[in-house]
Amino acid sequence: MAPYSRVIGCGSYLPERVLTNDELARELDTSDEWITVRTGIRQRHIAAEGELTSDLAYQAARRALKSAAIGAEEIDLIVLATTTPDNTFPATATKVQALLDIRHGAAFDVQAVCTGFLFALSTADSFIRTDQAKTALVLGAETFSRIIDWRDRSTCILFGDGAGAVVVRAGEAGDGGQKRGILSFHLHSDGRQRKLLFVDGGPSSTQTVGTVKMSGREVFKHAVANLADVTLEALKANGLTIGDIDWLVPHQANKRILESTARKLGLPAERVVVTIDRHANTSAASIPLALDEALGDGRIRPGHLVLMEAMGAGMTWGASLVRW
Ligand code: ACO
Repeated sequence: MAPYSRVIGCGSYLPERVLTNDELARELDTSDEWITVRTGIRQRHIAAEGELTSDLAYQAARRALKSAAIGAEEIDLIVLATTTPDNTFPATATKVQALLDIRHGAAFDVQAVCTGFLFALSTADSFIRTDQAKTALVLGAETFSRIIDWRDRSTCILFGDGAGAVVVRAGEAGDGGQKRGILSFHLHSDGRQRKLLFVDGGPSSTQTVGTVKMSGREVFKHAVANLADVTLEALKANGLTIGDIDWLVPHQANKRILESTARKLGLPAERVVVTIDRHANTSAASIPLALDEALGDGRIRPGHLVLMEAMGAGMTWGASLVRW
């Protein structure tokens, strides 16, 4: 049987500074009530001055290595998903590699905005299944606060900073008949919709960093439709049904998107891992941050079927099923 990947460790990191809705309402024409009702967000974490995406990623990586009980020298692949790299180049993953004092293997970034973690995990899984890597560190890390127009109340309330990481290792086939590990990925992009959510800057276009621009309502509609569809696609590909899912670990974009998707699928709300109230939307970091929380408090246990799904700018969207 071909090798497959298992998640053997998870870790996350949130910057110390917490920015509440009430604090935002002191600077902007908004309120805690508006933000909570429309998004479910109560607060977000914001990186300190000089604290970079690589710093957040490094802290999450250290915790993931600790939970996997392995040393950094065992990592031979680092794939880091981010929309907010330290620099245009080199890849932020190489900085994390250096911080971990790893001198072998490969390290690179992937960019699929809020779906980035699933694209990164799929990349690492492919490396492992084709025997190009044995043990991978997969990260989602963002300092979204740096690409937000803090005067735009329709976007600045939504995002936060953070990082999450998993360690993925080639698994042994068998395990009493039931394969445990990553079962499948279902990734999609549709570049025709790229103007619904984008940053109006970049090295090739404006030579500036730019800030987030979004058609909120359109993004919302696409999110609910695509996330329900891709969830059903993942279940069908594995001969499973909604009733088989123990935990849905979604990208945390908006509590109403999570609720609408769960309702559309007929999935009880108690089986959805929700962190958006405290973390806001941390883009590529939100899934590993939520995973780490649900593993840490014992909700996700060995043998559980976990479905991760995400949508983001591009538009990009996807899902992955994992037997824990
Ligand atoms: N406080 C108070 N009022 C506000 C705020 C605010 N923070 N923001 C907007 N409003 C106002 C608008 O100006 C508008 O006022 P008007 O009616 O006088 O014109 C009114 O509220 C309604 O605005 P809408 O944009 O229609 O509000 P909506 O109900 O759609 O909620 C929201 C906006 C929360 C952004 C919602 O559309 C949403 O969550 N969309 C999905 C966004 C998302 O998930 N983005 C991340 C994608 S992941 C990634 O790749 C980064």
